[in-house]
Amino acid sequence: VAGFLVDLGIRVPIVLAPMDGAVGPDLVAAVSNAGGLGVIPLWSVEPSVLTQQMQTVRRLTSKPFGVNLNNQFPQDDHLAAAIDEGARIVSFFWGINQKRVMRAKMAGLVVMQTVGTAAEAREAVDAGADVVVAQGWEAGGHVWGTVTTLALVPAVVDAVPSVAAGGVADGRGLAAVLALGASAAWIGTRFLLAEEATVDQTGRDRIGAATEADTVMGKDANPDWLDSGVRWIGGEPSGEYRPPDRQLAGQSVGLVHRAQSAAQIVTEVWDEAQETMKRLSQAPSAST
Ligand SMILES: Cc1cc2nc3c(=O)[nH]c(=O)nc-3n(C[C@H](O)[C@H](O)[C@H](O)COP(=O)(O)O)c2cc1C
Repeated sequence: VAGFLVDLGIRVPIVLAPMDGAVGPDLVAAVSNAGGLGVIPLWSVEPSVLTQQMQTVRRLTSKPFGVNLNNQFPQDDHLAAAIDEGARIVSFFWGINQKRVMRAKMAGLVVMQTVGTAAEAREAVDAGADVVVAQGWEAGGHVWGTVTTLALVPAVVDAVPSVAAGGVADGRGLAAVLALGASAAWIGTRFLLAEEATVDQTGRDRIGAATEADTVMGKDANPDWLDSGVRWIGGEPSGEYRPPDRQLAGQSVGLVHRAQSAAQIVTEVWDEAQETMKRLSQAPSAST
């Protein structure tokens, strides 16, 4: 487990991806309690609600957790509220805002920045980010870049400690991104069927039934999201995303079929990753 995770007290290299509408205090605390890192999306609520939600997480766990903010929207009051409430880790997505990174760093927070290219990873480092989240094109929800996880992660890991997002839903995937040089996997879609996820039954049924070929990348019809790429289950390719009748999910949805507790997911994925790495290290080489 990489240095920055150890420093944070995280035993398992699994980060719960913040997913607006699907991830709340129960799921975040459950992942942190299981040894991973929960990250709670709080960009879409009022700053006062952000404070309450952080307090709720803290009642449920004494472990570290991250707060996710969205640079597509006004977030300075959110960041101030998170700092006042004692946040230790902040995650920013949808572009780099150097002022916000600096403000978080000055307050002593660990800053995680989602990026879609290696050039952007270097920009994030120059801005002061501690950790880069390399989000691949196969990821669910709003997707910032156009490069796949397999190509993106090795391109960014040399610049800065990196977490791989997009397409990881089991231990084989986790082992794969660790092999690419990532310090951890940032897992979203797999946690949509966690018992603690705030996904309704219709969404759960869609997720459980979908294959890896059943998601499309389209545009968000909401003008606030400009021309953003967004991945959901079903619909016409390049269509428009209009919540709530569509379920966001990544291509790894084909691996996600049953409801489990978040703790079971963390344990199962990490055990399988360790078994995979062991199997690979024991594989006979071509010369023997
Ligand atoms: C339902 C849903 C909502 C999401 N909402 C957010 C969000 O609020 N903030 C964010 O940084 N990323 C968001 N994402 C992207 C995830 O953080 C992450 O990059 C993605 O789920 C990783 O890929 P995977 O789904 O293949 O695991 C969302 C993804 C999904 C599926």
